[in-house]
Formats: sequence, structure tokens, C-alpha cells
Amino acid sequence: MKTILAPSLLAADFGKLGQEVREVAAAGAEFIHIDVMDGMFVPSISFGLPVIKSLRPFTDKVFDVHMMVEEPGRYAEAMKEAGADLVCVHQEACCHLDRTLHQIRDLGMKAGVAINPATPVSTLEWALEQVDLVLVMSVNPGFGGQKWIPYAKEKIRQVRERLCALGLEEQVRIEVDGGINQENVREAVEAGANVIVAGSAVFAGDRTANVKGFLKKFEMIEG
Ligand code: DX5
Ligand code: ZN
Repeated sequence: MKTILAPSLLAADFGKLGQEVREVAAAGAEFIHIDVMDGMFVPSISFGLPVIKSLRPFTDKVFDVHMMVEEPGRYAEAMKEAGADLVCVHQEACCHLDRTLHQIRDLGMKAGVAINPATPVSTLEWALEQVDLVLVMSVNPGFGGQKWIPYAKEKIRQVRERLCALGLEEQVRIEVDGGINQENVREAVEAGANVIVAGSAVFAGDRTANVKGFLKKFEMIEG
């Protein structure tokens, strides 16, 4: 699968989010990564569904919504209404993960499942056939601009192995999120990640140049 860049809006200028979305989309980002935080699952509060809805007219690119929220199933319908294409929920935040994943898919959205750095890949054993994407967190979620945790690579490898064993490697994407920049992205891609989230590495400085820089790296890695 071709590697996709998913700029995280958490690092964008909130005063001009629409323009920011337009710029990274025009530069070649396929996903727009949207971090929703509830102040419970993670310490911070970011933004919610009305903000996502207001951004929808700015692009046709995939809205990849990362729900750092306790029991995100409560918002499944509202996410659909706001224009989410892919909704990623945390394994740790869902008491009934299977139900939540089905709720998302039944509404016609793609479903993803995320795991925190300390959560083993084995907890997803029975979820892999119910998802379109697995998100391996390479920082503890809640804040942008952190340093990546290198053992995330081993977890990405494990996810890839399990997907291959199940014959799902062409259906289920592997996303990595946290502390990724143009210097370490090769390690994440070589481990098996094919959706790369980048916040500060895209929205600090020249956004267009940063997106193009990542895309060039992907081309080089893919040969
Ligand atoms: C962290 C968020 C990330 C974050 C990534 O809780 O899920 O998406 O914005 O930002 P960087 O790339 O700066 O680590
Ligand atoms: Zn995220």
C-alpha cells in the first residue's frame, strides 16, 4: 500500500484552520488527522464535532478523526454528521470495543482502533478483523510536539505480522502517531506503517514544503 501523510491539525493555527486544511491538502496530504480530546481520557481538551463540521467544506480529503475520548461510541452518529470518514477509537477507552467498531462501520464510516504505548498489540487479537486501520501511538497521547518512543517500531512490526498472518495486510492500514519527523519517518515506514501522522513536523514553518518533503521521503523509501 502506498504511504499516506496525515497532517495533525493539533499543531495548526486554530485561528485559520480552514486555510491550513486547504494548504496541506493542496500540497498532497491524503488524510487530515483530527485530534479530538475530552480532558478525561487525556488531560487536554482540543476541539469537538462542530469544528470538524465547519472544516468539511474546505476539502474532499479523508477526515481521519482520532478520538481521545472515553466511550467514543456515544458520539458515533454525531461524527458521521460532522463529516468524519474514518473514526479511530482507543482500545483503552472502549468497554465494548467490538460494539463501538460496528457502530462506526454501520454508519458507513471506516473504523480504526488505537493503542497507547504501554498497551500490548495482543489486546487487538479479536479486533483486527473488525477494523480498517490500526493506530500505534508513538507518544503518550494528549499533546503535540513530544519525542517519539522508539519501541513503537516493534509494535508496528507485530501488527504487520498479525495482519499478514490473517491475510489482511492489503485491507487494514497501519498508522503511526506522535513525534514523527522527516528524520525518523523511514524507521516507521520500514517497520510497516503506511499512514504517517505529523503535527509539528508539518505545521511549523512552510507547510507546503514540509508536506512535499515527507512525500519525497516516501517515494525514496518505496523506491
Ligand atoms: C497526540 C496526538 C497527535 C499529535 C501529533 O496526542 O494524537 O496526533 O498531534 O503531533 P506531533 O507530530 O507534533 O507529535
Ligand atoms: Zn492523533
